[in-house]
Amino acid sequence: MSVIDSISSTLASHLWNPLATRLRYLIEMEENIGKLDSTIKNLEVRKNEIQVRLKISEGKQETCNPEVTEWLEKVTAMGTEVDEIKNVHKKRKQSFTYWSKYEIGMQAVKKLKEAKMLHEKGAFKQVSFEIPPYSVQEVPIVPLTEGIECNLRDVLQYLKDGKVGIVGIWGMGGVGKTTLLRKINNHFIGVAKENYGYDLVIYVMASTSYGIGQLQVDIAEKIGLFMKPGSSTEMRASLLLSFLRRKKFLLLLDDLWDYLDLAEVGIPYTSGLNNQKVVLTTRYETVCGHMGAHKTICGMFGPRDSLAIVQRKSNRSY
Ligand SMILES: Nc1ncnc2c1ncn2[C@@H]1O[C@H](COP(=O)(O)OP(=O)(O)OP(=O)(O)O)[C@@H](O)[C@H]1O
Ligand SMILES: [Mg+2]
Repeated sequence: MSVIDSISSTLASHLWNPLATRLRYLIEMEENIGKLDSTIKNLEVRKNEIQVRLKISEGKQETCNPEVTEWLEKVTAMGTEVDEIKNVHKKRKQSFTYWSKYEIGMQAVKKLKEAKMLHEKGAFKQVSFEIPPYSVQEVPIVPLTEGIECNLRDVLQYLKDGKVGIVGIWGMGGVGKTTLLRKINNHFIGVAKENYGYDLVIYVMASTSYGIGQLQVDIAEKIGLFMKPGSSTEMRASLLLSFLRRKKFLLLLDDLWDYLDLAEVGIPYTSGLNNQKVVLTTRYETVCGHMGAHKTICGMFGPRDSLAIVQRKSNRSY
C-alpha cells in the first residue's frame, strides 16, 4: 500500500466512524428508547429489592450503607431524566426532523450506558451495617478552656441525678454556652460506657432557623440512622422515637431560641430515670422553663467566670 493509500484510508476511517455512530443514533433511535425503557424497569426492580432489604434492616435497627443511599438517589435522578427523554420523544413523534431524531437517539444511547452501569453497581452484598453500640463524635473546641471545668463538673453531677431529665444552660451571647456544651460532649470520648451508662452522646445545633426536619436529619446522621430522602417529619419522628426509646442517650441541643417540641422531633420523654437526658443551651431563661428543665445553669462560662455571676439554681421542685 502506498503512502497516499494509507493516508486516505486512515482519513476515511476517521471521517466514517463518527459519521456511522451518528447515523446509528438516527436509525436505532426507537430500538434504543425501547432498550432504555427495559433497563430502567430492571433498575426499578433492583431498587425495590434493595428497599425491601433496607426495611428489614431498619427493623434490626441497622443503618444504611452510604453507598446504597447514593445509589438510590442516582436511580431516582436517572428515572426523572429518562422520563424527560421519553416525553420529548412522545411529543415529537408526529413531527420528527432528522435533527430531533438524532438528538433523542444520542441522549437515549448516553442514558442507556449510564443506566446499565448503575444497574451493575446496584448489586450490593451489604445494604446496611450494625450501628456501633456506643458512640460519641468529637466536636471542635477552643484548646484553652480552664475556667469551664467547674461548670462541667456541675452538669455531670446533675446528669447523675435520676430526677434530672433536662438541664438548661442559659446566658447572654458569647458567654461560652456552646463551648461548655461541646466540652460536655467531648468529655464522654474515651469514658467507659459503664461510668454513665449512655449508649449515645449526640451533639446538634438546634437553632430555630434549621427547622425540625433538619434537626431530625442531623440527629439521625450523628447516630448513623438511615432516613429515606424526602420522608415526612412524622415518619422521621417515629423512626427516631422507636430507635431512641430503646437507647440510653445524652442529647446535647445547642442554641435553642424558642420552645422545641421534643416529641415532634422524635425524642422520647426524658424524665431522667432511664438515662435518657437532654442538655440544652439558650440565651433565654424562659426557654429553659418552657422546655421543662429540671436544673438550670446561668452565667458566664470560661476564663471570665471568676469575675462573673455563676448562679446555679434548681427551678423545679420534684
Ligand atoms: N472557657 C473558654 N476558654 C476560652 N475561650 C472560650 C471559653 N468559653 C468560650 N470561649 C470563646 O468565646 C467565644 C464565645 O463562646 P461561645 O460560642 O461558646 O458562646 P455562646 O454563649 O454559645 O454564644 P451564643 O449565645 O452567641 O451562641 C468563642 O470564640 C469561644 O471560643
Ligand atoms: Mg452558642
